[in-house]
This record gives sequence, structure tokens and C-alpha cells, in this order.
Amino acid sequence: MNSSEIIEKYNSAVVRSYGRLDLALESGSGAAGIDADGRRYIDFGSGIGTNSLGYADSAWADAVSAQAHRLQHTSNYYYNSTTAEFAAKLTAMTDTDKLFFGNSGAEANECAIKIARKRSFDKYGDQNRTTIITLVNSFHGRTVTTLSATGQDSFHNYFFPFTPGFKYVEANNIQALREAIDDKVCAIMFEFIQGEGGVIPLNQDFVDEIFALARKHDLTTISDEVQTGVGRTGRLLAAEHFGVKPDIVTLAKGLGGGLPIGVCLTRGEYANVLTPGTHGSTFGGNPVVCAGGLVVLKRLSDEKFMAEIAHKSEYFRRSLEALPRVKSVSGIGLMLGAELDGIGAADVLKLALDRGLLVLTAKTKLRCLPPLTITCEQIDAGMAILKDILS
Ligand SMILES: Cc1ncc(COP(=O)(O)O)c(C=O)c1O
Repeated sequence: MNSSEIIEKYNSAVVRSYGRLDLALESGSGAAGIDADGRRYIDFGSGIGTNSLGYADSAWADAVSAQAHRLQHTSNYYYNSTTAEFAAKLTAMTDTDKLFFGNSGAEANECAIKIARKRSFDKYGDQNRTTIITLVNSFHGRTVTTLSATGQDSFHNYFFPFTPGFKYVEANNIQALREAIDDKVCAIMFEFIQGEGGVIPLNQDFVDEIFALARKHDLTTISDEVQTGVGRTGRLLAAEHFGVKPDIVTLAKGLGGGLPIGVCLTRGEYANVLTPGTHGSTFGGNPVVCAGGLVVLKRLSDEKFMAEIAHKSEYFRRSLEALPRVKSVSGIGLMLGAELDGIGAADVLKLALDRGLLVLTAKTKLRCLPPLTITCEQIDAGMAILKDILS
């Protein structure tokens, strides 16, 4: 099938819940994708931060394939060595105690919300101490509850009634955060860098205040690192840049190297809040996904690999800043947003696609989440396309 045949076939059989682009990718290698008509693309998007090792990394593909040949699923009645190994390694690397396995960011966040509320109920016996403070402009997922947690009015439509018990505070507004706390609040949930919201980092003072207030009022801290985690910012967790250890951390996107996984990592007492029967997920901890995840973790344990991300992040940022019409660049590591002058980010995205570059947008910004394996030559090639468009 050529690209247009694929697109027509797909659209005739799949609901139209996405605004899609006319591109049908068929294969790829590292940060280069190839479409069904044989055209090559430099990838500055990595499937929205998910193909952390790029397309078809050979060690990753070998591990996934070997696991699929051995054992693909067990149900959560039984154990298997690959899933056990992955969980042990991830909790050790993140300095957390125990995790719950789901399949997506939204599912990881659902679990975090359930743990925070159950812990509050277990400790205080109060069905009203359930409010979770989240931030204006946040994004936490597409289930009804994670939409409710998302602090953007545009997501609070159509699907009424939404889950009650969320309160939204402006990011980086310490006074507003203080004023939002009352005896019904049990947790504060936040992204260190708002990704979908426009690549907007929290500042250190605000993060410190979250943790100070949490200590004072016995609130659960939940960091949604679905987009910022797994080496994206040059550290395994973005929390490391801020010197804090949330009670609960959620990860997804890049963790499986492109296979579906979402985890809810817990520390201390939070590791024992869920008890048998209180939560579950049929595919959670799938061994094929965990086999891929183990390759991702192995790569992220390599100091040289992490140093390369740091180097490429600087290179990427400087290259973006040097482009015409780029007013400012926000973000950390390989999670960067460029505010443009006199041209819309969505227009640039389309022009880039025509010229062989895949890039993302977030609100008014051009957003870049390249695979962590991208090379400086590929960064140069993508930037040359952007320069051509923006000149
Ligand atoms: C910070 C954050 N949380 C949650 C999600 C939802 O993840 P998923 O689409 O895997 O459910 C996303 C997705 O973009 C995200 O960026």
C-alpha cells in the first residue's frame, strides 16, 4: 500500500478522535523514519517522547523479539523473571520502593490518584479529605478522572459528569498554592515541566513550597513524569534537577522504548497503600514490554549515554536559539519549546513535514522531543530545514 491507500483505509475504519497529518510511517532507524512511499524524515518528535531509543533500536528489538518467542503474557496471577527484573531495576534506579504496572500515562496517574486518596482515607477515616491540587495548564491524561485532574477548561467538556475533588492552582504562584490548601486537600500533583501546556518548567521556589506545604499539612506529593521522565531532561527523573523526592512518581512514554507501559512509583508508606483487590490491570507488567524497558534502563544506566544526552541537549538548545524568528527557548534537556515570532508553530510543523522533518507543537510553541539517541548530524539536518522555513 502507498501512503494515500493506507490513510484512506485507516480513516474508513478508525474513529476520528485525532487531528492527523498525512504521513504513513512504515519503518525507521534511530532518529530517521521512512514513509510508505520511501521518503525519509528526521524525527524531532519520537512519537511524542516515546521512542526513547529511536526507531527499531537493534538491542531493544532483539530483546523484545526474544521475549515474545519465550513468553508474551502471564496474567497478574503469576510471576515471571523479566517483569520482576524490570521492577527491581527501575525502583532501584529511581530510589523508590515499589511500583504498580499499567499501560499508559493516564493509567499511571489514575493509580497515583487512587493511592493518594486511599492513603488519606486509611489515615484520617474521612471521605471528604480527598481534594487533589493540580496546576492550571497541566495535562494528566484522557480518562474521565485524569481529564478532571488536568487544569485546562478546554478538556472539561462533553463527558459530564467529571470526577469531583480537583482544585487548580496557577503554576509558580506560591501565594495561590498556600491559599488553596484547606482541610479537604490530601495531595498536590504536578509536572516539573508542563509538556502539553507549552513546555513550561516550574521554578525552584515553587517546587520547594510544594514540598514544604506537603510536609506541614501531611499532603501527598505526586509528580507526573510521564513526559519529563526516562532521561528526557538529561537525568533519569526531572525531580533530580530540583533536588526533591515526591511520594509518588508516574512514568510512561519513553519507558518501554515505544511499547505501552505506565508505572506508578511509590516511596515509603505509599508502597503499602494498595492491597489485594484494590487495583489491577490485565496487561500491566507485560513481559514483552518489560524486556524492551530493560534495554531502555540499561542504556540510561550508562554514564556515557547520559553525558551524551547532556551534550546534545546543549547543542540542540543553542541551535534552536540561533534560528531566525525564535524569540525564546524553554525546557530542560531534550524537552524544548521554541516561541516563534510572526509565524504559527502549527504552520511550521506542516512546512517541516513537507521538507522531511517531524516536529511537534505545544500551545503556541514549536516543541522538540527527539529520541535520546539522535546524533548532532541529525540535529544539524533538522535545524537546516527549520532555518529554511523560518528565514
Ligand atoms: C504529563 C503527561 N501526563 C499524562 C499523559 C497521558 O499519557 P497517555 O497518553 O500515555 O495516557 C501525558 C501525555 O501526553 C503527559 O504528557
